[in-house]
Amino acid sequence: MHNVDIELVEMTLDVMKYAINRITNTSPELGQPKKEEELRKLVGETVTAKGIGGEKAFHLFKDVLVKATVPIDHPRHLAFVPAAPTRAAIMFDLVTSASSIHGAYWMEGAGGIFCENEAMKWLVSLTGLPSEAFGVFTSGGTAANLSAMVTAREYWRRNPDNLNEKALMITSAGAHSSIKAMAKVIDADVLLVETEDLMSAEDLKRKIAQLEGHQRKRLFAIVATGGTTNAGIIDDLDGIAQVCEQEKLWFHVDAAYGGGALAADSVRHLFKGIERADSITIDPHKWLFSPYDCGAVIYKNPELAKAAHAQEGSYLEIFKDEGAQGFNPADYQIQLTRRVRGLPLWFSLAMNGTDRYKWAVEMGIKLANLAGKLIEENTDLELIREPSLSCVLFRRKGWSPDDYINWTYKNHNDGLALVTPTKWIVNNKAETVARFCFINPDTTKEDITVILDTMK
Ligand SMILES: Cc1ncc(COP(=O)(O)O)c(C=O)c1O
Repeated sequence: MHNVDIELVEMTLDVMKYAINRITNTSPELGQPKKEEELRKLVGETVTAKGIGGEKAFHLFKDVLVKATVPIDHPRHLAFVPAAPTRAAIMFDLVTSASSIHGAYWMEGAGGIFCENEAMKWLVSLTGLPSEAFGVFTSGGTAANLSAMVTAREYWRRNPDNLNEKALMITSAGAHSSIKAMAKVIDADVLLVETEDLMSAEDLKRKIAQLEGHQRKRLFAIVATGGTTNAGIIDDLDGIAQVCEQEKLWFHVDAAYGGGALAADSVRHLFKGIERADSITIDPHKWLFSPYDCGAVIYKNPELAKAAHAQEGSYLEIFKDEGAQGFNPADYQIQLTRRVRGLPLWFSLAMNGTDRYKWAVEMGIKLANLAGKLIEENTDLELIREPSLSCVLFRRKGWSPDDYINWTYKNHNDGLALVTPTKWIVNNKAETVARFCFINPDTTKEDITVILDTMK
């Protein structure tokens, strides 16, 4: 299994050939899921005592299994938050794996962590946080939000009065589901400002004013969103920062999706106030063109994260020794053993330069505005709201929720596009509407037109 022999060499060539073909394919087939029983019937048992051989396993993957997946970088995949990793980043994901680097501690991962930190410096510079701010790459936005919440909660518990209190945070109804899910993980309560639209400082003040005395005592953090997943809306970050400073509350900005837009001069002003955050989540695997999985958590004061996350054990003491000193990513988030998942981003940034990133993010915004214009010109369609960042919400006049669902399946089954409906509150009622989210700069006007034509 660990031998280098002719079979391994052949397999390596096959894998590399596949990778090159896939990396250079600009319009991969839009695969569809199949039922598990169906897949099992097609591929049979693959994990057996003697093994089925690399050649057979790889064929099953190429011919059957990968076809039951949706390529996230398809130019007409405009559902959820799609992705479009750069070719350089994907290639370097292969290199990252091949290099077998342990990314938890400087002692083992110094060169790789150095690269990650170069990429992180650029990310931090986009936020405008003070020079002491820094962060680490995580497995995604959920892990970044959790890491930030743990840091905030542990900081709050430095006050002995809070030691036995259940923590409470406020966010908005537009916040991502991971905020509530991760609050459960840390056993904190969440109160919502009931808006999917922008959460303003006034909304937040009102919510805080409504708290009973004991609830106010338990309030430790506010989570604002820098680009809601559903509609690309950015909360009033500056106003909320002001409230957090006055009320002495931790200010977290979840910019997992929208954070890439910090690179875009056309919308950067919408994020004013993010530079006052205590912690920020940005996912390079969303709008900064990294392969999965790559999130990031950034702290204004990384020492607070270290106090919350650094693990202790006799086997880990060597990492704190002077000879091993350096930046240890494990100290700043929830995971110990980690791949150096920021490395593909670093290589792609180094190869392409940050200006190309600016351009590619601006393309997503331009595509959303273009889609908005095409929708306005189409008498069957109506914009629900102006496009925001790279999200567009719109209705097909006269359609029921089932029509949207059937439309989604038909386009997917036809191999044309993956575009899914969402809900938006209109006149106090949740209406099913269509939604585009643009990330891939290779998506064209024709791609948008073809999809809109399917709504005739
Ligand atoms: C605003 C926001 N926060 C957090 C997340 C969760 O990120 P991940 O899926 O990388 O864990 C998402 C995912 O879409 C998101 O849009």
